Amino acid sequence: MLMHVTELTVSDYRNYSRQTVRFSDKINFVEGRNAQGKTNLIEAVYLCSVGKSARTPRDKELIGHDKDRAYIRLMVSKSYGEDKVEIVLDRTAGKQISVNGMPISRMGELMGVVSTVFFSPDEMRIVKEAPADRRRFMDIALCQMSRTYFYLLTRYNKVLMQRNRLLKSGTVTDDALYVWDMQLAEAGSKIIKTRRGFVENLCKVTRECHSYLTDGKETLDLGYESIDGANAEEIKENFARILIEDREKDRLRGYTHSGPHKDDIAFKIGDEDIRSFGSQGQQRTASLALKLAEVEIVGSRGDYPVLLLDDVLSELDIGRQKRLMDKIKDYQTIITCTHIDSAILDPTLPFKDLHVENGTVKEL
Ligand SMILES: Nc1ncnc2c1ncn2[C@@H]1O[C@H](COP(=O)(O)OP(=O)(O)OP(=O)(O)O)[C@@H](O)[C@H]1O
Ligand SMILES: [Mg+2]
Repeated sequence: MLMHVTELTVSDYRNYSRQTVRFSDKINFVEGRNAQGKTNLIEAVYLCSVGKSARTPRDKELIGHDKDRAYIRLMVSKSYGEDKVEIVLDRTAGKQISVNGMPISRMGELMGVVSTVFFSPDEMRIVKEAPADRRRFMDIALCQMSRTYFYLLTRYNKVLMQRNRLLKSGTVTDDALYVWDMQLAEAGSKIIKTRRGFVENLCKVTRECHSYLTDGKETLDLGYESIDGANAEEIKENFARILIEDREKDRLRGYTHSGPHKDDIAFKIGDEDIRSFGSQGQQRTASLALKLAEVEIVGSRGDYPVLLLDDVLSELDIGRQKRLMDKIKDYQTIITCTHIDSAILDPTLPFKDLHVENGTVKEL
């Protein structure tokens, strides 16, 4: 049996006072009119997966207006039994996450308990938005697959912050900076190597998904743009050399100009870089293919993630909606929409219909 979420309970969370929802391990529609609480529900599942909302960095926004604390609990069925993630958000005490009743002290402990892939119209813009969004995409996928990567990234960011602080101070000597350069190159080269492998794999799978969605009409290519090097050692040497070369520029701006925090993924159809030159449809379809590939890659390494699709159907024509539904029929999926178009449903496939109205969910 695949990993899947079975039950979500929320109280004093967003526009919900108290609600328990049970999910099917296949397709779940969360439908209802605008502003009823559909996205809030998906957001709660995502929150239990990565410990943060996909919509806001401010946890307090999730607590019901006029309430002091929100509680969210997600039950997850695994091959070995059931896991329970609980999150308390308190206006004064902050956030506390527990896994199977044990409070966690580091966010890394939550990684991999329940993995999700979240997709909303915002994510549809990933191909045309800033490089930071594409890096975030890589990092979230990799963190869910590997705790080692998560700790590596945390370490890199800390060293980077320190180095930038020293650069800004304007008083740091070259020798002192060199110590930080080496640490940055050490962690950075491992990140680059991991990301490069990920993008290579991602490219193959994304191309297949993309070809499926476009009916074989277009061929998509991805390219990882970063510091060169055949292996971690070479990348490290190159990175260290660039840090020394850029030192004056870095000092001048009080900022580190190169490293994995500047990486990007190129998206090409033929010779055209669709990050800048793609049509909206091309960019959207490529983004969707990317997300579907993420599900495949994360899934092939362990548990298949739960696919969270927020308002995605309305952005696609009927043909693509149908193809998407066909593609996801084997994953657990939670999809929000304002109404279910029966034209896209395969009558042989069961689905669950959850109707949301003003912070209350009814099973239809
Ligand atoms: N902290 C909060 N406390 C109470 N209500 C909140 C809170 N945060 C958001 N809301 C309310 O939740 C309502 C539903 O939000 P949600 O984004 O889930 O709607 P939706 O059903 O996805 O609608 P749409 O179809 O427009 O996407 C909003 O009207 C908003 O005012
Ligand atoms: Mg919504």
